[in-house]
Amino acid sequence: MNSKILVTGGTGYIGSHTVVELQTAGYEVIVVDDLSNSNIDVLDNIEQISGKKPAFEQFSLADAAKTDDFFNRHRDIAAIIHFAASKAVGESVQLPLHYYRNNLVSLLNILDCQVKYGISNIVFSSSCTVYGQPDKLPVTETTPRKDAESPYGNTKRVNEDILQDAVRAYPQLKGIALRYFNPIGAHPSALIGELPLGIPQNLVPFITQTAAGLRSELLVFGDDYDTPDGSAIRDYINVVDLAKAHLVAIERLLQNQNKTGYEVFNLGTGNGYSVLEIVKGFEKVTGLKLNYRIVERRAGDIEKIWADTTFANQELGWKAEKGLEETLLSAWNWEKRVRGIR
Ligand code: WQD
Repeated sequence: MNSKILVTGGTGYIGSHTVVELQTAGYEVIVVDDLSNSNIDVLDNIEQISGKKPAFEQFSLADAAKTDDFFNRHRDIAAIIHFAASKAVGESVQLPLHYYRNNLVSLLNILDCQVKYGISNIVFSSSCTVYGQPDKLPVTETTPRKDAESPYGNTKRVNEDILQDAVRAYPQLKGIALRYFNPIGAHPSALIGELPLGIPQNLVPFITQTAAGLRSELLVFGDDYDTPDGSAIRDYINVVDLAKAHLVAIERLLQNQNKTGYEVFNLGTGNGYSVLEIVKGFEKVTGLKLNYRIVERRAGDIEKIWADTTFANQELGWKAEKGLEETLLSAWNWEKRVRGIR
């Protein structure tokens, strides 16, 4: 019988893609999600793709009593992948107390239960946002972290510190923090993907919703950056590649290959693309003309960032496989299926 993995936030964007990879690899998965930013129907789509519907319980991990009760009833959990968090950068500026309470208390409750019930392994969903605007590119895992641009980003940084200090205090704990660059795209089946509630904050869902006619135009936030075409550069990584990295991290922990107790890995492609290159790439793969307008920079945005992926390549034996065009097309196929566009 393969190990049982808890995936918190498993009905979310990256979480759902990771559940598919875990189940396809033969793991037993249980999902906990409060459904505050995702839909329970995702479980049916996960089943359609992987042939299995994960076990599911709905509650907030920020609730200590419910979290303890859950772990008390599931003593056979071999590892945890912790995605569940509030993650809208702009919203976090408006609601910092909610973000600190939800994102920090959830991790603290999980770690308390790991110590209490003897669950060693945790993979934590972190973000390249902890680097701020790096002084030197590409970014390695030893690039100094900077003050976060938002309360959201600060919860990622603080949670990394909480995990590292917990591992130091409780040597039975083993933690891996995965710093995502910019996750984009959808599963090739177009059965799962990114479904932001309300107006999308992120670039690619805004592009696909504009192409689908839900938004009248895409606003490009600034073309006066110090980049070849003036628009900001990011390292966009396919969400399925990202999901597969979580499978590798889990196996690293279960096989006790995690050498130092707490490890950090950058999950990017190593390539940076500008906003305008993403727009042009989308137009190329879809044959559509995107209606966009260049406006002022967005407050809090950094100019450019992309990953040095050497450590993840060498230590995890993982690298992003899917190219930008395939990934943008997967995002469009997903949007078309969700909107019923042929
Ligand atoms: C990308 C680029 C925008 C929307 C954030 C978080 C990060 C991670 C990914 C959670 C920027 C430009 C965007 C639009 C635009 N989230 N843009 N018009 O800000 O790099 O990263 O989301 O983990 O932690 O910080 O991603 O997709 O919002 O922006 O021009 O309508 O697209 O200015 O240059 P970002 P993004």
